[in-house]
Amino acid sequence: MDAKKLAAESAVEYVEDGMTVGLGTGSTASWAIKALGEKVKAGLHIQAVASSVASEDLAKQYGIQLTDFSELSRIDVTIDGADEVDAQCNLIKGGGGALLREKIIAYNSSQFIVVVDESKLVRTLGKFPLPVEIVPFAAELTLKQLKNLGCETSIRQKDGKNFVTDNGNLIADCFFNQIEVPELLNNSILLIPGVVESGLFLHPKVHRVIVGYADGTLHLL
Ligand code: 5RP
Repeated sequence: MDAKKLAAESAVEYVEDGMTVGLGTGSTASWAIKALGEKVKAGLHIQAVASSVASEDLAKQYGIQLTDFSELSRIDVTIDGADEVDAQCNLIKGGGGALLREKIIAYNSSQFIVVVDESKLVRTLGKFPLPVEIVPFAAELTLKQLKNLGCETSIRQKDGKNFVTDNGNLIADCFFNQIEVPELLNNSILLIPGVVESGLFLHPKVHRVIVGYADGTLHLL
């Protein structure tokens, strides 16, 4: 049993007819998009907002109606994956580089449901390098200021070039090893000019985490 698929498919049960749904990015979120697509084929009526070009393409492929978020004030439910989840439901996200749109969608959702397999559960966040979206202008200076917060950091690379986000920005992957107080770190990161957003998603905004296990069981945080 694929634990990511299991968690994603169980989250789709929270989607009701007429809802506006936020679509996450990544392999787990893709399972949710596919499951939603099947429900749409079976007659469910929803509109969706995608957090990346990749998720938008997948949704189109599955016949899910997409809408422009600027025309809405609120999303009913967003389903997305995560790179790390602690026991307080704080997250690191952005492994796929989509953290900015993911955060805008998640933080403007009545229900933000996170779907992960058990490998994502941690005692303390920080082993997974924290993705931070930064503007290309003066990127080296921004990196230096991120380093001053106590991490090793570098600009994410893909195919030998800087990885560029859907928003035309760069990702600084920041290796902190241990993030003791995520709220404080998030605030410090956001104070740096040049930073657009951090991949820390904090618990009051995370309403539910569904964890799938390889033995076919589910656990709710
Ligand atoms: C993309 C993300 C993803 O949700 C995160 O990287 C988890 O991915 P996966 O479900 O493939 O393990 O934040 O920016």
